[in-house]
Amino acid sequence: MQISTSILNSNNREESIKKLNFTKTKYIHIDVMDGLFVEDTQFTIDEIKKINSISKKKLDIHLMVENPLAYINKCENLNIKYITFHIEVEKNINEIINKIKEIGYKVGVAIKPDTNINVLTPYLDKIDLILVMSVEPGKGGQQFIENTIDKVKELRKIIDNNKYKVQIEVDGGINNEIIQKIKEANISVVGSYITKSDNYKEQINKLL
Ligand code: DX5
Ligand code: ZN
Repeated sequence: MQISTSILNSNNREESIKKLNFTKTKYIHIDVMDGLFVEDTQFTIDEIKKINSISKKKLDIHLMVENPLAYINKCENLNIKYITFHIEVEKNINEIINKIKEIGYKVGVAIKPDTNINVLTPYLDKIDLILVMSVEPGKGGQQFIENTIDKVKELRKIIDNNKYKVQIEVDGGINNEIIQKIKEANISVVGSYITKSDNYKEQINKLL
């Protein structure tokens, strides 16, 4: 299991990045919000560039926005591993996938807790990652939704049976106990559990 640390709920994001540089977190998870797809507004492109300049870890960008293309176009030439957008935006899905590939990043598609995993089927041979939301998108520090566990198991079967090269990432409400229930996933996004603690290193080690 790899850890992608969400800095959304950190009180001092720059300080958090500097601390995370010395931990075993694989990625820094950036929750981009446009005030439309979700209520909140978070992370301007300038903030992302600033984080990019401080971070020794690759960025894992989670776009909770109505118009992913507008953001993707501004993310060129950064130390990004994945750009993930929501399937619920419904429009231009193939165009968005191609654009992310074109600028050299891996493609993630996210689904909200109430979205059926079947909507992913047409894209499974074109994408690198599925982000399964285990809370409603929009805020950190929420409680993990238990039916995510079955969703992850189901996806694991579909991926393995068809030999798709897709990673499963789970996002929201994860701590050292919940992580034991989603072992079929490849990456866990963990926010508050890490950033609200005094010792990031120790806290991350408890997840691994
Ligand atoms: C929720 C975000 C998550 C969240 C994770 O909209 O996508 O990445 O910040 O943080 P915790 O671990 O606090 O739920
Ligand atoms: Zn997220």
